[in-house]
Amino acid sequence: MDNRPIGVFDSGLGGLTAVKQIMEKFPDESVVYFGDTGRVPYGTRSPETILRYTRDDINFIRGFDVKMIIIACGTASSVSLPTVKYENEGIPITGVVDATVYKAVRKTKNKKIGIIGTTGTIKSHSYDDGIAAYDSAIKIYKRDCPLFVPLVENGHFDTPVARLVIEEYLEDIKAAGVDTLILGCTHYPLLKKAIGEYMGAHVTLIDPCAEVVEYLKKKLGRDMLHGADRDAEQYRYFVSDDPAGFAERGGIFLEREINGQVEKIDIEKY
Ligand code: DGL
Repeated sequence: MDNRPIGVFDSGLGGLTAVKQIMEKFPDESVVYFGDTGRVPYGTRSPETILRYTRDDINFIRGFDVKMIIIACGTASSVSLPTVKYENEGIPITGVVDATVYKAVRKTKNKKIGIIGTTGTIKSHSYDDGIAAYDSAIKIYKRDCPLFVPLVENGHFDTPVARLVIEEYLEDIKAAGVDTLILGCTHYPLLKKAIGEYMGAHVTLIDPCAEVVEYLKKKLGRDMLHGADRDAEQYRYFVSDDPAGFAERGGIFLEREINGQVEKIDIEKY
């Protein structure tokens, strides 16, 4: 039995897609979440800056004696994972890319996979390299979608403007006839309804955080990391800016009130 919390972080709201999965699949686990709302978006930054931000986030989260860390950010996972794993040997750190790729290659029937993500993620080739390592015959159609993160951070989950941008970004991938689409940024599942309706029911959308939490299920079983004893502090949220906005939009997405549980911290100190 290990009652320490699981640490989860992202540049903003996107990583809550992991927290929601943990709440549903592991109701006894506790979570410390950090959303770097003062420095979002990560996806348009240089690899050096993304690595620096990832290091700060991990240093902050490690202060809570967490039993493992989920990098619930496609960009930080794609750019920084090997380095931060090497630098933090004592603690299990999981990114979102491997589990997502594993699921996508098993789902596709026509061997045409679409990948969407931030500019940093698409430039890193993380998902396509992973797919090619499994099956080089799979055709990949990819595109960065830099307007999706600001849409989500501003609460445009399923609005006319979100639908317009979805059509603009996904037109070519849809026309290519993919049967599987990797939502390679953890913010994108918040647009899942609108993306799913645009792509059509025959296209499987792969949500990175759902896959990583599935992986966690195996991991928790194997390493006996189960938590227990819920308490008032079961879910703690920290942000680097605008805790009220995060509580409001995050609460809508999590379908539970998170007012009063969100604290602001100065991430540059870590
Ligand atoms: N949600 C993150 C990702 O998965 C970060 C998006 C961003 O900040 O640009 O890539």
